Amino acid sequence: MNNFSFYSPTYFAFGRDQELEAGALVKRFGGSKALIHYGGGSVVRSGLLDRVKASLDGAGVPYVELGGVRPNPRSGLVYQGIDLCRREGVDFILAVGGGSTIDSSKAIAAGVVYEGDFWDFYAGKYIEKALPVGTILTIAASGSEGSPDSVITNENGMFKRGATGDAIRPRFSILDPALTQTLPPYQTACGITDIMAHLYERYLTNTPEVEVTDRMIEALLLTMIHEGPRVIEDPNNYDARANIMWAGMMAHNNSCGVGRSQDWNSHNIEHELSALYDCAHGAGLAVTMPAVFTYVMQHDVMRFAQIAVRVWGCQMDFAHPEVTAKAGIEALRRFLISIGMPKNFAELGAKEEDIPKLVDVLCNGDGRPGSISGFVTLNEEDCANIYRLML
Ligand code: NZQ
Ligand code: ZN
Repeated sequence: MNNFSFYSPTYFAFGRDQELEAGALVKRFGGSKALIHYGGGSVVRSGLLDRVKASLDGAGVPYVELGGVRPNPRSGLVYQGIDLCRREGVDFILAVGGGSTIDSSKAIAAGVVYEGDFWDFYAGKYIEKALPVGTILTIAASGSEGSPDSVITNENGMFKRGATGDAIRPRFSILDPALTQTLPPYQTACGITDIMAHLYERYLTNTPEVEVTDRMIEALLLTMIHEGPRVIEDPNNYDARANIMWAGMMAHNNSCGVGRSQDWNSHNIEHELSALYDCAHGAGLAVTMPAVFTYVMQHDVMRFAQIAVRVWGCQMDFAHPEVTAKAGIEALRRFLISIGMPKNFAELGAKEEDIPKLVDVLCNGDGRPGSISGFVTLNEEDCANIYRLML
C-alpha cells in the first residue's frame, strides 16, 4: 500500500426530514448569507425548495437564489453565480440537487474568492480557497456530496474538465433517501452506474497488496448489485434507496481509494461523450466501461478475474484466467443493460464519424500530451479503438 493522507471533514446528516436542518447547519458552518443553487426544477416541483427556504428563514439566514443548473453543468451559469454572490455579499453556497448542481456550486464557491478566471481550476490549478459549500442531495450518483471534485463543461468548445481541492469538499451534506424517490427509473439507473464506475475506477490499480480497499470496493459493488434491481422495481423502497445513497458517498469520498493508484480512463473517455452529446454521465459510462475493460484486460488479467469471481460469482478458470476475466466484464455489461442502461454508441446518440474529434479533445485538449493515463496509458489510437468498440 502507498503512503497517503486522508482528510474528509464533511458533516453528514442522513435520514428522513434532515433537510429541515438546513438553516441551522448553514449557520453552524459559518454562513451569514447564502446562495441557494438548484437545477431545472425538480426541487421546485417536489416542494423541497420551499422546505429549505423555510428552514433558512427559521434560522434567520438571508439568501438569494439561482436555479437553472443543467445536467453536465455549464461554465456560463458559474460566471453568473460568481457575479451574483459578489454583488449580494454571499458567504455560503447551498446546493440543492444532484451532482450537477453541487459541482456548479463548488465552481462558484471557488470563483468568488479568486481574482482570475475560475476556469483556471479546470485547466489544472489546485483549488486552495473557496466559500464554504453545503449540499442537500437529491440523487445518489456523483458522490460530489463528499468529494473534493467538481466537473464543468466549458461552453466555449463544449469540453468537460474536472477541478479539485479540499477547499471545495462540502462542509455538510444532507442525505435524505426519501428525496430520491421522485427520480425517474432512468436517472436512478444512471446513478447506480456512476457509483459502480467510481468503484471500478479505484479497483483498477497497479498498486499491490491493497486488500483492505479491494474488499471495501467489493462489498460496495455487491451492495449495488443487490439493491439496484430492487429500487428499479420499486422506486419507493426507502431502505434500498438508503443503502444506495450511502454506498454512493463511500464510493467517491476516496475512503476506498487511498493508498493505491487509480484508473479514471473510463471517466475521461466518457466525459467527452456527455460534453458533446449531452447524454447522462451514467449512461455514457454504461457504454464506456465494458469497452475500456475489454481493451485493457490483458494489462492485468488476474485483477479482472478476481473481481469476476469475488463480485460477479464467476467460476475461476485457472488454466485460462482470461476466460474468467471476460465473463466478469460480460456480467457487468448485462447487469447495466438489465437496469435500463444503453449498450452502444447509437443508443447514446453518439456518431461514428465524430470519433476523430472525440479523440482529439480527449487526448490533446487543455494541454494533454496526446494520451490519457490511468491503469494503462492510452494514446490516440487506443482511444479511437475503444470508441469503436462501443459501436
Ligand atoms: O435539474 P433537475 O430538475 O433537478 O433534474 C435533475 C436532472 O435532470 C434530475 N433529478 C435530480 N434529482 C431528482 C431529479 N429528478 C427527480 N427527482 C429527484 N430527486 O436528475 C437529472 C440529473 O441530475 P444531475 O445532477 O445531472 O445528476 P448526477 O448527480 O448524476 O450528476 C452528474 C454530473 O456529475 C458529474 C458528472 O460528470 C455530471 O456532470 N460528476 C461529478 C463528480 C464529482 N464532483 O465528484 C464525479 C462524477 O464522476 C461525475 O463526473
Ligand atoms: Zn462519475
